[in-house]
Amino acid sequence: MAKFDLKNLKIKAKKEIEKAKSLKDLDDIFRKYLGKKGKITLPLRSLKKLSLRERKKIGKEANLIKRILQIDFQERSKELKKKIELEELKKAKIDITRPGKKIEIGHLHPLTQVLREVEEIFHSMGFSSIEGPEIENEWYNFDALNIPKDHPARDLWDTLWLKGGLLLRTHTSPAQIHYMQKNNPPLRIIVPGRVFRHEATDAGHEINFYQFEGLMVGKDISAANFKAVIEEFLKRFFDKIVKIRLRPSFFPFVEPGFEVDVSCPICNEKGCSVCKNSGWVEIMGAGMVHPNVFKNSGLNPKNWQGFAFGIGFDRLAMMKYKINDIRLFYSGDLRFLNQF
Ligand code: FA5
Repeated sequence: MAKFDLKNLKIKAKKEIEKAKSLKDLDDIFRKYLGKKGKITLPLRSLKKLSLRERKKIGKEANLIKRILQIDFQERSKELKKKIELEELKKAKIDITRPGKKIEIGHLHPLTQVLREVEEIFHSMGFSSIEGPEIENEWYNFDALNIPKDHPARDLWDTLWLKGGLLLRTHTSPAQIHYMQKNNPPLRIIVPGRVFRHEATDAGHEINFYQFEGLMVGKDISAANFKAVIEEFLKRFFDKIVKIRLRPSFFPFVEPGFEVDVSCPICNEKGCSVCKNSGWVEIMGAGMVHPNVFKNSGLNPKNWQGFAFGIGFDRLAMMKYKINDIRLFYSGDLRFLNQF
Protein backbone atom coordinates (compact mmCIF):
# COMPACT_ATOMS: atom_id res chain seq x y z
CA MET A 1 0.00 0.00 0.00
CA ALA A 2 2.77 2.28 0.89
CA LYS A 3 4.19 1.91 -2.58
CA PHE A 4 1.28 4.04 -3.94
CA ASP A 5 1.68 6.76 -1.38
CA LEU A 6 -1.50 8.49 -2.53
CA LYS A 7 -1.40 11.18 0.14
CA ASN A 8 2.01 12.32 -0.96
CA LEU A 9 0.94 12.31 -4.60
CA LYS A 10 -2.04 14.44 -3.71
CA ILE A 11 0.13 17.04 -1.94
CA LYS A 12 2.58 17.17 -4.86
CA ALA A 13 -0.20 17.47 -7.45
CA LYS A 14 -1.91 20.26 -5.48
CA LYS A 15 1.33 22.24 -5.32
CA GLU A 16 2.00 21.84 -9.01
CA ILE A 17 -1.57 22.88 -9.89
CA GLU A 18 -1.17 25.99 -7.79
CA LYS A 19 2.10 26.88 -9.50
CA ALA A 20 0.88 26.26 -13.07
CA LYS A 21 1.48 29.43 -15.08
CA SER A 22 -0.44 28.62 -18.22
CA LEU A 23 -3.25 26.43 -19.47
CA LYS A 24 -0.61 24.33 -21.23
CA ASP A 25 1.23 23.75 -17.88
CA LEU A 26 -2.05 22.79 -16.31
CA ASP A 27 -2.82 20.35 -19.07
CA ASP A 28 0.59 18.67 -18.64
CA ILE A 29 0.04 18.34 -14.89
CA PHE A 30 -3.39 16.87 -15.49
CA ARG A 31 -1.93 14.22 -17.75
CA LYS A 32 0.87 13.53 -15.31
CA TYR A 33 -1.55 12.67 -12.51
CA LEU A 34 -4.95 11.95 -13.96
CA GLY A 35 -4.18 11.00 -17.59
CA LYS A 36 -4.49 7.41 -18.85
CA LYS A 37 -1.08 6.54 -17.48
CA GLY A 38 -1.18 9.17 -14.72
CA LYS A 39 0.30 8.61 -11.31
CA ILE A 40 -3.11 8.37 -9.68
CA THR A 41 -4.81 6.49 -12.50
CA LEU A 42 -2.27 3.64 -12.51
CA PRO A 43 -2.80 2.45 -8.94
CA LEU A 44 -6.51 2.33 -9.62
CA ARG A 45 -5.87 0.06 -12.57
CA SER A 46 -3.71 -2.36 -10.62
CA LEU A 47 -6.20 -2.78 -7.82
CA LYS A 48 -7.26 -6.22 -8.98
CA LYS A 49 -3.96 -7.62 -7.82
CA LEU A 50 -4.77 -6.67 -4.23
CA SER A 51 -6.94 -8.27 -1.62
CA LEU A 52 -10.57 -7.22 -1.45
CA ARG A 53 -10.03 -5.22 1.72
CA GLU A 54 -7.08 -3.33 0.31
CA ARG A 55 -8.84 -2.85 -2.98
CA LYS A 56 -11.81 -1.20 -1.27
CA LYS A 57 -9.66 1.01 0.87
CA ILE A 58 -7.24 2.17 -1.81
CA GLY A 59 -9.97 2.40 -4.41
CA LYS A 60 -12.03 4.68 -2.19
CA GLU A 61 -9.07 6.85 -1.30
CA ALA A 62 -7.81 7.14 -4.86
CA ASN A 63 -11.26 8.08 -6.18
CA LEU A 64 -11.64 10.72 -3.52
CA ILE A 65 -8.23 12.25 -4.34
CA LYS A 66 -9.12 12.12 -8.01
CA ARG A 67 -12.30 14.13 -7.42
CA ILE A 68 -10.52 16.66 -5.22
CA LEU A 69 -7.82 17.18 -7.82
CA GLN A 70 -10.37 17.49 -10.61
CA ILE A 71 -12.00 20.37 -8.73
CA ASP A 72 -8.56 21.96 -8.19
CA PHE A 73 -7.84 21.67 -11.92
CA GLN A 74 -11.15 23.29 -12.80
CA GLU A 75 -10.62 26.20 -10.44
CA ARG A 76 -7.06 26.84 -11.51
CA SER A 77 -8.15 26.68 -15.13
CA LYS A 78 -10.80 29.37 -14.44
CA GLU A 79 -8.21 31.55 -12.69
CA LEU A 80 -5.76 31.25 -15.56
CA LYS A 81 -8.43 32.05 -18.16
CA LYS A 82 -9.43 35.18 -16.26
CA LYS A 83 -5.79 36.24 -16.03
CA ILE A 84 -5.32 35.79 -19.78
CA GLU A 85 -8.50 37.79 -20.47
CA LEU A 86 -7.32 40.66 -18.28
CA GLU A 87 -3.92 40.71 -19.96
CA GLU A 88 -5.58 40.83 -23.37
CA LEU A 89 -7.83 43.68 -22.25
CA LYS A 90 -4.81 45.62 -21.06
CA LYS A 91 -3.12 45.13 -24.42
CA ALA A 92 -6.28 46.25 -26.31
CA LYS A 93 -6.42 49.61 -24.50
CA ILE A 94 -7.79 52.37 -26.79
CA ASP A 95 -5.12 54.64 -28.14
CA ILE A 96 -6.85 57.99 -28.24
CA THR A 97 -3.94 59.59 -30.06
CA ARG A 98 -4.42 57.36 -33.11
CA PRO A 99 -5.88 59.25 -36.11
CA GLY A 100 -9.55 58.36 -36.66
CA LYS A 101 -11.02 56.58 -39.65
CA LYS A 102 -11.95 59.08 -42.35
CA ILE A 103 -15.71 59.30 -42.91
CA GLU A 104 -16.61 59.76 -46.57
CA ILE A 105 -18.63 62.95 -46.94
CA GLY A 106 -20.81 63.47 -49.98
CA HIS A 107 -21.52 66.79 -51.62
CA LEU A 108 -24.40 68.55 -53.28
CA HIS A 109 -25.47 67.35 -56.71
CA PRO A 110 -24.14 69.65 -59.48
CA LEU A 111 -27.69 70.72 -60.35
CA THR A 112 -28.31 71.70 -56.72
CA GLN A 113 -25.04 73.62 -56.68
CA VAL A 114 -26.09 75.53 -59.79
CA LEU A 115 -29.54 76.09 -58.31
CA ARG A 116 -28.05 77.66 -55.18
CA GLU A 117 -25.93 79.95 -57.35
CA VAL A 118 -28.92 81.01 -59.47
CA GLU A 119 -31.01 81.66 -56.37
CA GLU A 120 -28.29 83.76 -54.79
CA ILE A 121 -28.10 86.01 -57.86
CA PHE A 122 -31.87 86.47 -58.11
CA HIS A 123 -32.30 86.95 -54.36
CA SER A 124 -29.77 89.79 -54.54
CA MET A 125 -32.04 91.42 -57.17
CA GLY A 126 -35.06 91.23 -54.85
CA PHE A 127 -36.63 87.99 -56.15
CA SER A 128 -37.92 85.33 -53.71
CA SER A 129 -37.85 81.58 -54.35
CA ILE A 130 -41.18 79.80 -54.20
CA GLU A 131 -42.31 76.26 -55.00
CA GLY A 132 -45.20 74.87 -57.01
CA PRO A 133 -46.74 71.38 -57.08
CA GLU A 134 -45.29 68.74 -59.42
CA ILE A 135 -48.74 67.21 -59.92
CA GLU A 136 -51.12 69.65 -61.53
CA ASN A 137 -54.57 69.58 -63.02
CA GLU A 138 -55.28 70.60 -66.63
CA TRP A 139 -56.57 73.99 -65.63
CA TYR A 140 -53.32 75.15 -64.00
CA ASN A 141 -50.96 73.55 -66.51
CA PHE A 142 -52.92 74.68 -69.60
CA ASP A 143 -56.29 76.49 -69.35
CA ALA A 144 -55.23 79.18 -66.89
CA LEU A 145 -52.17 79.78 -69.04
CA ASN A 146 -54.42 80.66 -71.96
CA ILE A 147 -54.10 77.24 -73.64
CA PRO A 148 -57.70 76.02 -73.97
CA LYS A 149 -58.66 72.40 -74.68
CA ASP A 150 -58.18 71.36 -78.31
CA HIS A 151 -55.82 74.29 -78.90
CA PRO A 152 -52.87 73.04 -80.99
CA ALA A 153 -50.45 74.75 -78.57
CA ARG A 154 -51.10 71.95 -76.08
CA ASP A 155 -49.12 69.68 -78.38
CA LEU A 156 -46.01 71.77 -77.68
CA TRP A 157 -45.87 70.07 -74.28
CA ASP A 158 -45.87 66.27 -74.52
CA THR A 159 -47.73 65.44 -71.37
CA LEU A 160 -47.53 62.54 -68.94
CA TRP A 161 -51.14 62.08 -67.84
CA LEU A 162 -52.28 60.71 -64.50
CA LYS A 163 -55.73 59.48 -63.50
CA GLY A 164 -58.64 61.90 -62.87
CA GLY A 165 -57.52 64.71 -65.20
CA LEU A 166 -54.26 65.16 -63.29
CA LEU A 167 -50.84 65.35 -64.94
CA LEU A 168 -47.16 65.77 -64.18
CA ARG A 169 -46.49 69.45 -64.83
CA THR A 170 -44.80 70.00 -68.17
CA HIS A 171 -43.33 73.36 -67.14
CA THR A 172 -43.00 75.60 -64.08
CA SER A 173 -45.38 78.24 -65.55
CA PRO A 174 -48.48 77.02 -63.61
CA ALA A 175 -46.74 78.29 -60.46
CA GLN A 176 -47.35 81.84 -61.81
CA ILE A 177 -51.10 81.30 -61.41
CA HIS A 178 -50.84 79.70 -57.96
CA TYR A 179 -48.73 82.59 -56.71
CA MET A 180 -50.77 85.44 -58.23
CA GLN A 181 -54.01 83.91 -56.89
CA LYS A 182 -52.65 84.34 -53.37
CA ASN A 183 -50.36 87.37 -53.63
CA ASN A 184 -50.98 90.84 -54.95
CA PRO A 185 -48.38 92.65 -57.08
CA PRO A 186 -45.88 94.18 -57.08
CA LEU A 187 -44.04 90.85 -57.03
CA ARG A 188 -40.76 89.25 -58.03
CA ILE A 189 -40.40 85.47 -57.80
CA ILE A 190 -38.43 82.59 -59.20
CA VAL A 191 -39.81 79.06 -59.14
CA PRO A 192 -37.18 76.36 -59.50
CA GLY A 193 -38.49 72.83 -59.92
CA ARG A 194 -38.74 69.51 -61.66
CA VAL A 195 -40.83 69.17 -64.80
CA PHE A 196 -41.79 66.16 -66.92
CA ARG A 197 -42.31 65.57 -70.62
CA HIS A 198 -43.17 62.48 -72.59
CA GLU A 199 -40.19 62.86 -74.92
CA ALA A 200 -37.52 60.60 -76.41
CA THR A 201 -34.28 61.21 -74.53
CA ASP A 202 -31.03 62.24 -76.17
CA ALA A 203 -27.94 64.25 -75.22
CA GLY A 204 -30.03 67.44 -74.94
CA HIS A 205 -33.43 66.12 -73.79
CA GLU A 206 -34.61 64.31 -70.69
CA ILE A 207 -38.04 63.02 -69.76
CA ASN A 208 -37.52 64.60 -66.32
CA PHE A 209 -35.58 67.85 -66.12
CA TYR A 210 -35.49 71.15 -64.26
CA GLN A 211 -36.69 74.62 -65.10
CA PHE A 212 -36.94 77.83 -63.24
CA GLU A 213 -39.68 80.24 -63.86
CA GLY A 214 -39.26 83.95 -63.30
CA LEU A 215 -42.08 86.44 -62.79
CA MET A 216 -41.91 90.16 -62.17
CA VAL A 217 -45.15 92.17 -62.04
CA GLY A 218 -45.72 95.82 -61.20
CA LYS A 219 -47.37 98.99 -62.48
CA ASP A 220 -44.94 99.64 -65.31
CA ILE A 221 -42.61 96.63 -65.69
CA SER A 222 -41.47 96.46 -69.32
CA ALA A 223 -39.46 94.24 -71.68
CA ALA A 224 -36.53 96.60 -71.03
CA ASN A 225 -36.62 95.55 -67.34
CA PHE A 226 -36.62 91.92 -68.45
CA LYS A 227 -33.54 92.46 -70.64
CA ALA A 228 -31.69 94.23 -67.84
CA VAL A 229 -32.49 91.52 -65.25
CA ILE A 230 -31.51 88.66 -67.59
CA GLU A 231 -28.30 90.36 -68.74
CA GLU A 232 -27.28 90.96 -65.11
CA PHE A 233 -28.10 87.36 -64.20
CA LEU A 234 -26.14 85.89 -67.11
CA LYS A 235 -23.13 88.16 -66.52
CA ARG A 236 -22.90 87.01 -62.90
CA PHE A 237 -23.70 83.38 -63.61
CA PHE A 238 -21.09 82.95 -66.38
CA ASP A 239 -18.73 85.44 -64.76
CA LYS A 240 -18.40 87.40 -67.99
CA ILE A 241 -20.48 89.60 -70.25
CA VAL A 242 -22.61 87.50 -72.58
CA LYS A 243 -24.69 89.02 -75.35
CA ILE A 244 -28.38 88.14 -75.56
CA ARG A 245 -30.71 88.04 -78.52
CA LEU A 246 -34.51 88.13 -78.29
CA ARG A 247 -36.30 86.31 -81.10
CA PRO A 248 -40.06 86.62 -81.53
CA SER A 249 -41.76 83.38 -80.55
CA PHE A 250 -45.14 82.08 -79.55
CA PHE A 251 -46.19 81.04 -76.05
CA PRO A 252 -49.95 81.46 -75.40
CA PHE A 253 -49.36 82.87 -71.90
CA VAL A 254 -47.27 85.86 -73.02
CA GLU A 255 -47.75 88.69 -75.51
CA PRO A 256 -45.36 89.50 -77.07
CA GLY A 257 -43.39 86.33 -76.61
CA PHE A 258 -39.77 85.66 -77.37
CA GLU A 259 -37.10 83.07 -77.21
CA VAL A 260 -33.82 84.16 -75.66
CA ASP A 261 -30.45 83.12 -77.06
CA VAL A 262 -27.09 83.82 -75.42
CA SER A 263 -23.81 84.23 -77.24
CA CYS A 264 -22.16 80.86 -76.67
CA PRO A 265 -20.20 81.21 -73.41
CA ILE A 266 -18.07 78.19 -74.32
CA CYS A 267 -16.64 79.24 -77.69
CA ASN A 268 -17.38 83.01 -77.58
CA GLU A 269 -19.40 82.83 -80.80
CA LYS A 270 -16.64 81.03 -82.76
CA GLY A 271 -18.77 77.89 -83.12
CA CYS A 272 -18.64 74.63 -81.15
CA SER A 273 -20.64 71.45 -80.54
CA VAL A 274 -22.73 73.02 -77.76
CA CYS A 275 -24.00 75.86 -79.99
CA LYS A 276 -24.02 73.59 -83.04
CA ASN A 277 -21.56 75.97 -84.71
CA SER A 278 -24.08 78.84 -84.71
CA GLY A 279 -22.38 80.90 -81.97
CA TRP A 280 -25.72 81.20 -80.11
CA VAL A 281 -27.55 78.94 -77.64
CA GLU A 282 -31.26 79.05 -76.86
CA ILE A 283 -31.82 79.02 -73.13
CA MET A 284 -35.32 80.18 -72.39
CA GLY A 285 -38.79 81.16 -73.40
CA ALA A 286 -40.08 84.52 -72.16
CA GLY A 287 -42.47 87.39 -72.75
CA MET A 288 -44.84 89.92 -71.26
CA VAL A 289 -47.56 88.30 -69.14
CA HIS A 290 -50.75 87.84 -71.21
CA PRO A 291 -53.85 89.75 -69.96
CA ASN A 292 -55.78 86.45 -69.77
CA VAL A 293 -53.20 85.05 -67.33
CA PHE A 294 -53.79 88.04 -65.03
CA LYS A 295 -57.56 87.55 -65.35
CA ASN A 296 -57.30 83.83 -64.57
CA SER A 297 -55.27 84.69 -61.47
CA GLY A 298 -57.91 87.15 -60.27
CA LEU A 299 -55.94 90.31 -61.18
CA ASN A 300 -57.06 93.22 -63.37
CA PRO A 301 -54.77 93.39 -66.44
CA LYS A 302 -55.49 97.10 -66.73
CA ASN A 303 -53.68 97.65 -63.43
CA TRP A 304 -50.68 95.39 -63.85
CA GLN A 305 -48.02 94.41 -66.31
CA GLY A 306 -44.91 92.31 -66.11
CA PHE A 307 -42.61 89.73 -67.64
CA ALA A 308 -42.23 85.97 -67.23
CA PHE A 309 -39.54 83.59 -68.35
CA GLY A 310 -38.78 79.86 -68.12
CA ILE A 311 -35.18 78.70 -68.22
CA GLY A 312 -34.05 75.13 -68.88
CA PHE A 313 -31.96 74.60 -65.82
CA ASP A 314 -30.03 71.53 -66.93
CA ARG A 315 -28.95 73.25 -70.13
CA LEU A 316 -27.68 76.23 -68.18
CA ALA A 317 -25.58 73.91 -66.00
CA MET A 318 -24.35 72.06 -69.10
CA MET A 319 -23.11 75.31 -70.62
CA LYS A 320 -21.42 76.43 -67.45
CA TYR A 321 -19.55 73.17 -66.91
CA LYS A 322 -19.16 72.12 -70.57
CA ILE A 323 -21.20 68.94 -70.11
CA ASN A 324 -22.16 67.36 -73.40
CA ASP A 325 -24.92 64.98 -72.26
CA ILE A 326 -27.88 65.92 -70.03
CA ARG A 327 -28.37 62.26 -69.04
CA LEU A 328 -25.17 62.35 -66.98
CA PHE A 329 -26.98 64.40 -64.33
CA TYR A 330 -29.39 61.56 -63.65
CA SER A 331 -27.04 58.61 -64.12
CA GLY A 332 -25.80 58.44 -60.52
CA ASP A 333 -22.33 57.81 -61.96
CA LEU A 334 -19.83 58.77 -59.26
CA ARG A 335 -17.03 59.29 -61.83
CA PHE A 336 -19.14 62.17 -63.14
CA LEU A 337 -20.53 63.46 -59.85
CA ASN A 338 -17.20 63.50 -58.01
CA GLN A 339 -15.86 66.11 -60.41
CA PHE A 340 -18.05 68.77 -58.80
C1 FA5 B 1 -41.66 76.49 -71.62
O1 FA5 B 1 -41.67 75.48 -70.96
C2 FA5 B 1 -42.33 77.76 -71.15
N1 FA5 B 1 -43.10 77.48 -69.97
C3 FA5 B 1 -41.28 78.83 -70.91
C4 FA5 B 1 -41.86 80.20 -70.73
C5 FA5 B 1 -42.09 80.66 -69.43
C6 FA5 B 1 -42.16 81.02 -71.81
C7 FA5 B 1 -42.63 81.91 -69.22
C8 FA5 B 1 -42.69 82.26 -71.61
C9 FA5 B 1 -42.93 82.72 -70.34
P1 FA5 B 1 -40.11 75.51 -73.47
O2 FA5 B 1 -40.93 74.33 -73.79
O3 FA5 B 1 -39.41 76.16 -74.62
O4 FA5 B 1 -40.93 76.64 -72.73
O5 FA5 B 1 -39.01 75.10 -72.38
C10 FA5 B 1 -38.16 76.03 -71.75
C11 FA5 B 1 -36.73 75.52 -71.68
O6 FA5 B 1 -36.72 74.23 -71.07
C12 FA5 B 1 -36.09 75.32 -73.04
O7 FA5 B 1 -35.52 76.51 -73.50
C13 FA5 B 1 -35.03 74.30 -72.72
O8 FA5 B 1 -33.87 74.93 -72.18
C14 FA5 B 1 -35.65 73.46 -71.61
N2 FA5 B 1 -36.17 72.17 -72.12
C15 FA5 B 1 -37.26 71.93 -72.84
N3 FA5 B 1 -37.44 70.61 -73.09
C16 FA5 B 1 -36.42 69.97 -72.45
C17 FA5 B 1 -36.02 68.60 -72.30
N4 FA5 B 1 -36.74 67.60 -72.79
N5 FA5 B 1 -34.90 68.32 -71.59
C18 FA5 B 1 -34.18 69.34 -71.06
N6 FA5 B 1 -34.49 70.64 -71.15
C19 FA5 B 1 -35.59 70.97 -71.84
